[in-house]
Amino acid sequence: MADWDTIWINANLATMAGTGMPYGKIENGAIAAKCDRIVWVGSMDALTGKPDTLANHVVDIAGKWVTPGLIDCHTHLVFGGSRASEFEQRLQGVSYEEIARAGGGIVSTMTATREASEEALVRASLPRLSNLIREGCTTVEIKSGYGLEKSAEIKQLSVARTLGESLPVNVQTTFLGAHALPPEFKGRQADYIEQVIEEMMPAVAESGTADAVDAFCESIGFTAAETEAVFKSAQAHDLPVKLHAEQLSDLGGAALAARFGALSADHLEFVSEDSVLAMAAAGTVAVVLPGAFYILRETQLPPIDLFRKHGVDIAIASDFNPGSSPVPSLLLMLNMSCTLFRMTPEEALAGATRNAAKALGLAADRGTLEVGKRADLAIWSIGQPAELAYWAGYNPLHTLIHDGTAIDFDAQLVSPGLAA
Ligand code: NIG
Ligand code: FE
Repeated sequence: MADWDTIWINANLATMAGTGMPYGKIENGAIAAKCDRIVWVGSMDALTGKPDTLANHVVDIAGKWVTPGLIDCHTHLVFGGSRASEFEQRLQGVSYEEIARAGGGIVSTMTATREASEEALVRASLPRLSNLIREGCTTVEIKSGYGLEKSAEIKQLSVARTLGESLPVNVQTTFLGAHALPPEFKGRQADYIEQVIEEMMPAVAESGTADAVDAFCESIGFTAAETEAVFKSAQAHDLPVKLHAEQLSDLGGAALAARFGALSADHLEFVSEDSVLAMAAAGTVAVVLPGAFYILRETQLPPIDLFRKHGVDIAIASDFNPGSSPVPSLLLMLNMSCTLFRMTPEEALAGATRNAAKALGLAADRGTLEVGKRADLAIWSIGQPAELAYWAGYNPLHTLIHDGTAIDFDAQLVSPGLAA
């Protein structure tokens, strides 16, 4: 018996580790796993013996490229219904904010999500999550925020946990009770925040269904002061925080998030340079969401140059949700972050691997191809890593390894047709 389980040989590796090489590249390399961990990475020349003496399984991948499994660090993937009719309204010129203020938007998804059973939500979500996996995702974050009452929020979070147990993917969950004001609290926003803090947060923490806490700090969401109160409560329950900040206006949310040592501040089209400096000092990741930017036909770009200038790590995510980003595709975000935000293909890939791991507080465990990290590997039929951002609407994934084991897409994933 050899010591390692599997070795992939004749591989080109985009390790995304800070080796000084673009993409942390190792050409003509090999990578080995034992159980769910990477145990060896390097060039073929550096192997200390014949591959079949080192590992029980040898897989010759004939020059294909290996990257870390992709990480979608911001989604709202569990929801009832769809918002296709709002999409049609927006095409007639009604804005996202107008729809929200008229009681549509997040609140309309809330109604459909409250009405749906846990089983129905699982059934609707399986093909969506399967789609992300088919494109190379091995970790996906899923937020609540369409329940907006204790039991419905916990229902959404436990559906997310169930999805992670049902499919070959690691699901990280985020409690987003402060996403929108539910109609029964109309005119009583302070009372709703009190309920989030006094009732929902303790129950969510007690249930163990959330890994982090998020809020929507925005004119159509919650104020900076309300967000701060939610953050304090999260901290009291030992839950890390992140924030939807500066998507439509500048309320100083990103700086507030940084003050609380937030893992990430997300969207950020309207963030100021002072807030970017605060994020840099706190090590808060900037998560940019080109899907929402594209679908809402925004024109204000997130200040990528300021993130670069001040050394803020940039992650990219799908923000997959039924309103502003009905786009369950991280590969498309790689392309859009380059075409729309002028990021480089290398920055885009770092944004969907290393920096996305950091945005979830998981940088020590995954996001790069390094010894000791999780053996989550995506093997691509491409000639160079930039192709991952270059193709749009084309998926060059060859094989996906999750926790050291190859996923059988036909047997383990769910197609839309099978969900109903
Ligand atoms: O990230 N901005 C707030 N939340 C989501 C949108 C949710 C929705 O419209 O249903 C976002 O874009
Ligand atoms: Fe979002």
